[in-house]
Amino acid sequence: MTLVLGIETSCDETAAGVVAPDGSVLSNVVASQVEVHARYGGIVPEVASRQHVLQAGPVIKQAVAAAGLTWPDIGAVAVTNGPGLAGSLIAGVNAAKGLAAALGVPLVGVNHLEGHMYAAWARSGPGWLSPEGRHGFPIMCLVVSGGHTELVLMRGHGDFAVVGQTRDDAAGEAFDKAARVLGLGYPGGPAIQRAAEGAGALERFPRAWLGESSDFSFSGLKSALVRRARELGIYPAPAGGPPTGLVRSLARAFQEAVVDVLVSKTVQAAGEHGSRGIVIAGGVAANASLRQRMAAESPVPVTVPHTSLCTDNGAMVAVCGSHRYRAGVRSAMDLDVVPGLRAGSETWASMPVQTGG
Ligand code: KG4
Ligand code: ZN
Repeated sequence: MTLVLGIETSCDETAAGVVAPDGSVLSNVVASQVEVHARYGGIVPEVASRQHVLQAGPVIKQAVAAAGLTWPDIGAVAVTNGPGLAGSLIAGVNAAKGLAAALGVPLVGVNHLEGHMYAAWARSGPGWLSPEGRHGFPIMCLVVSGGHTELVLMRGHGDFAVVGQTRDDAAGEAFDKAARVLGLGYPGGPAIQRAAEGAGALERFPRAWLGESSDFSFSGLKSALVRRARELGIYPAPAGGPPTGLVRSLARAFQEAVVDVLVSKTVQAAGEHGSRGIVIAGGVAANASLRQRMAAESPVPVTVPHTSLCTDNGAMVAVCGSHRYRAGVRSAMDLDVVPGLRAGSETWASMPVQTGG
C-alpha cells in the first residue's frame, strides 16, 4: 500500500501529485509559469529553472496536504529525470532526492514521455478499467506535446518501442508557432482550438504524408500558413483584438491538417502492429478535435486521459512511478538528469537501479 508522490519540472510547469496503488489520483497541483514566459512568446530556460527553485517546495507541500496526507504517509518519491530542459530537470530531481532522503523512502526516476502515456493509467471513476484491462497489449501510444511527437508501441508495462516520430517540429510546437503567426498568443494549442471552434471552412492546407512512413513532419505546414497569411495581408498579425473570421478559418484549417495526419498515421500504425487499443497522451491530447476524430476513426478502443492529466503534471509522473516501483525500479542518490532521454530507450526489466553513471 505505497502512496507515491510524483514531481514534474521538466519544462515550464512546477507540478506535484500523489497517487494510490490502484491509480487513484489523490492530488494534482500545478503551478504554471505561462504568465512569466508569455511576455517572451516562449519558454526562457534560465527563467524556468529559477521559477522551479521558487515553486517546488510549496507545490510539493500543497500536493501532500491536498491529498489529506502528512509526510510519513508518502512511501516513494517519483521524479521526471528526462527528457526536458537540463536546469529545470535538476531543480525537480534535487528536490526529490532531498525528500526521499529525509523520509527514508525509495527514489524512482521517471521518463517524462512514459509519464504522459501513464496518464491513461490514472483511475477515473467507478467501474474504471486500465487500458490493458479493457483490451490488453500491445497498445499504440501517440505522444504529442510541445517537445515530442512520437508513436510508441507499448508491448507491456515498461516495454516500449518507438515506431514513428517527427522529422522536424513537434505537434505542440507547430500549434505554438501557428498561434504566433496568427497573433493568438501563447500557449498556442488552446488558443488555436478556441479560434477554430465554429470557424468557416474557407481554407485547406497540404498534409505531409511522407509515403507509408509512420513519421511526421509539420514544418511545411507552418510555412504554408505563413505564406497564406501573408497573401491575405494578416501577417505579421496586428496586435490585440478578437480574432477575425479570416484568422479563425486559418486556425481551423491548420488544426484540421495536424489532426488529420495524427489520426490517420496512428490508426495505420496501430493496424500494422496488431495493437488492441490506442492511447493518446501529452499536451496536444487535450485537443478536442483530436480526441473526437481519433475515437471516431479508430477500429480499436481509444483511451484519452482527462484533459487535466494531458498537459504536464505531477500525477502522471506518480502513476508511472507507481508502476515502475512495483516493477522493482529504484534510483540511486546519484540519479542524473538526461535532457535527451528518448521514449522506449529503457526497459524496466533491465533497470532495477538507475544511477548517474
Ligand atoms: O505536454 P505538455 O504540457 O508539455 C511538453 O511536454 O511539451 O505540452 C504542451 C503543448 C504546447 O505546445 C501546447 O500548445 C499544447 O501542448 N496544447 C494543445 C492543447 N493544449 C495544450 N495543443 C492543441 N490543443 C490543445 N487544446
Ligand atoms: Zn510534457
